[in-house]
Amino acid sequence: MRVLLTGGAGYIGSHTATELLNAGHDVTVVDNLANGSRVAVRRAGRLANGVVAFHEDDLLDTRGIERTFEAGPFDAVVHFAGLKAVGESVAEPLRYYRINLTSTMNLVETMLAQGVRHLVFSSSATVYGDPERVPIDETCAVHDASNPYGRTKLFLERILEDVVRAHPDMNVARLRYFNPAGAHPSGDIGEDPSGIPNNLLPYVTQVAVGRREILTVNGDDYPTPDGTCIRDYLHVTDLARGHVAALEKLATHPGLVTYNLGTGRGQSVYEVIRAYERATGVEIPFRVGPRRAGDIPTSYTDPSLAEAELGWRAEKTIEDICRYAHEWQTRNPTGYPED
Ligand SMILES: NC(=O)c1ccc[n+]([C@@H]2O[C@H](COP(=O)([O-])OP(=O)(O)OC[C@H]3O[C@@H](n4cnc5c(N)ncnc54)[C@H](O)[C@@H]3O)[C@@H](O)[C@H]2O)c1
Repeated sequence: MRVLLTGGAGYIGSHTATELLNAGHDVTVVDNLANGSRVAVRRAGRLANGVVAFHEDDLLDTRGIERTFEAGPFDAVVHFAGLKAVGESVAEPLRYYRINLTSTMNLVETMLAQGVRHLVFSSSATVYGDPERVPIDETCAVHDASNPYGRTKLFLERILEDVVRAHPDMNVARLRYFNPAGAHPSGDIGEDPSGIPNNLLPYVTQVAVGRREILTVNGDDYPTPDGTCIRDYLHVTDLARGHVAALEKLATHPGLVTYNLGTGRGQSVYEVIRAYERATGVEIPFRVGPRRAGDIPTSYTDPSLAEAELGWRAEKTIEDICRYAHEWQTRNPTGYPED
């Protein structure tokens, strides 16, 4: 397939570009580089002995999207582009609603006009809010999120339902990611957050290479066995392969489908720290800080639907995640170089 990746210069998008090339697809990335890197796009191509075409454009600009589609035709779109920082979304709700909602609506309108009928959408386990049960499967209720970022995912899921209802020839896969982490085993591409990382693994890797002094654990008085939050850490190349599988599913014209992507196992913050130390031999100093607003105690998925319908399963362990994340951060201590 000829696949357009929006936001493909970012973390998950660049890993997906590599896996799509490995699976024999053609890949074009459109990204405004707000949080992405041209270097990531180039390296993603090189890792698969191929080339990823790149367009710098903003999905808020309808003319920009049309320009990108002129480089097609495309068979499918994988839509990663958007803003993702929960705290920032609380401080700047309108920016989050404008960018995440408007860019997606612009994209889907252009797809409809151009006759592109397959869309894979990056959703998130955040749509389950404080889940009614764990492991979380796709029949669990979705809840209003506690922050504007989560709400954009919820709204977009609903908008895509309406689009498929109105255009029954559209095929949309909504992938609800659990906690993407780690880096490509080569150490060439990885997670490169700006500022203080929101996610645990990049925080740990930055402490491991001496870029930050100490890890702050956000609360150890949760109702979990060791008091720290439990999450389902999913290796980013496993997640990338999930997108390849979802695209192949869309080719069978299923209409609207929704899958949780995770490992089915939960790890506490302390378990991740110990796994990191085991995998790398580097000690991670930490201190316990207060709870972070909005964090739920436990979240992990039941991945059996994705396994049954996509033939997909996460393969990498938490030690793999730690080892590859460490390799990436050691080789790129300050992230991607300027292009
Ligand atoms: N990383 C996670 O923990 C996680 C978890 C669940 C869901 N998601 C979702 O997955 C997607 C990808 O996440 P990521 O971690 O790779 O994020 P990322 O920030 O690394 O990548 C997003 C990319 O989108 C680009 N972008 C943003 N606004 C754009 C616009 N208007 N036009 C064009 N490009 C634009 C950015 O420059 C960036 O390269 C996001 O939609 C995110 O909400 C991420």
